[in-house]
Amino acid sequence: MEDSDLSFDPGLEHVLAGETRLSTIDGEAGELVIGGFPLEELAPNATYEEALYLLWNDRLPTEEELSTFRSDLAAHRDLSDGALAAIREAAERRDDAMDAERIGAACASLARPAEEDTDGEVTTHERDAMVAVAQLPTAVAAYWRVANGEEPVAPRDDLTHAANYLWMLTGEEPTDEQVRGLETYLCSVIDHGFNASTYTARVVASTESDVLSAVTGAVGALKGPLHGGAPGPVLDMLEEIADHGDPQTWLTDRLDAGERLMGFGHRVYRVRDPRAAVLSEAAEEFYAGEESAFFDLARDVESAAVSVLDERKPGRSLETNVEFYTAVLLRGVGVPRELFSATFGVSRVGGWTAHCLEQYADNRIVRPRSRYVGETGRTWTPVGER
Ligand code: ACO
Repeated sequence: MEDSDLSFDPGLEHVLAGETRLSTIDGEAGELVIGGFPLEELAPNATYEEALYLLWNDRLPTEEELSTFRSDLAAHRDLSDGALAAIREAAERRDDAMDAERIGAACASLARPAEEDTDGEVTTHERDAMVAVAQLPTAVAAYWRVANGEEPVAPRDDLTHAANYLWMLTGEEPTDEQVRGLETYLCSVIDHGFNASTYTARVVASTESDVLSAVTGAVGALKGPLHGGAPGPVLDMLEEIADHGDPQTWLTDRLDAGERLMGFGHRVYRVRDPRAAVLSEAAEEFYAGEESAFFDLARDVESAAVSVLDERKPGRSLETNVEFYTAVLLRGVGVPRELFSATFGVSRVGGWTAHCLEQYADNRIVRPRSRYVGETGRTWTPVGER
């Protein structure tokens, strides 16, 4: 087929680039289905381990399977000495948490068991997937501790994935409410169709490269501010509005200055992001009581922003996206804002690895065509004559 016969779609928005059973999005209706479950059914009920098992196995685990799965995952949490040394260096340099997460992904190969240790039932890809999911939280938490002048806290294999992450960040055992809040977040963002980082992972896997290489590439894609970088700025915005006192005026001033409001709008959703609804409910439960003023502020800012944006872009329906209530919920749970994007990766690595396994099972190397817009027919000039 000639290039001229092909349609040109630089952001691949109108390209069906593959098939997946992992998740699907209806952007017009505002619906997200993960592993066959509507988000609203899965996220408030599942633990991260259950959501991960679902993605990897296309069904929920029995009680016994879940217990074994939890132990297997927990057994891979310790970083290698090499990974820890590199993460320390990144933290001491005050590099971004996403750099530490990328180091954690790349160095996870140093912590995987030697080839001959894998038993017959586990493939190398499945083992690498387990190592990747288990190691990223340890890498992020170790970075945070060292960046704050503290020693990393060793992972505990008696805690769940979510509880252990909070434990490693703070060195304190989290409350049930904190753990449930984090579980809901982790299960809400574990997978979301062919977003940029997930597709990156699939492209790497399609070359028959290994899962850890695919995850390393995916962390790199997630680092970009157009993908995973809005929840920190959302929190900054809410705090500035709290100081200012009048959401409507603050928001209008920003839009007049040509800025975009963080946490609003989405490439696919034309209504409120369904994850915003689930996360807002989780946050509301979390903030019930003494901290409810912050949640009320977020609600006020949401309604003021939606009405201001509607005046500016009538018919465009710019509503809250996932990042708005991510910021509110994670703040309540006690995840530092500097780690919001990296915590997104701590969840999404479940989706990345599931997509890799899906890609390997029915693989075709990803190799799109490009339209050439450069020169042709140039003749060579020796270097001394240029
Ligand atoms: N604030 C103000 N105006 C906005 C916003 C916003 N948050 N979002 C879109 N608009 C405006 C655009 O300026 C554009 O106006 P124009 O037609 O005059 O140029 C119009 O609405 C349509 O915007 P698009 O850029 O076409 O919307 P798109 O769907 O491509 O962008 C995006 C989606 C990047 C998320 C955008 O809404 C945005 O920048 N939001 C703020 C940042 C943010 O919250 N990012 C996290 C996204 S969630 C995630 O990716 C995990």
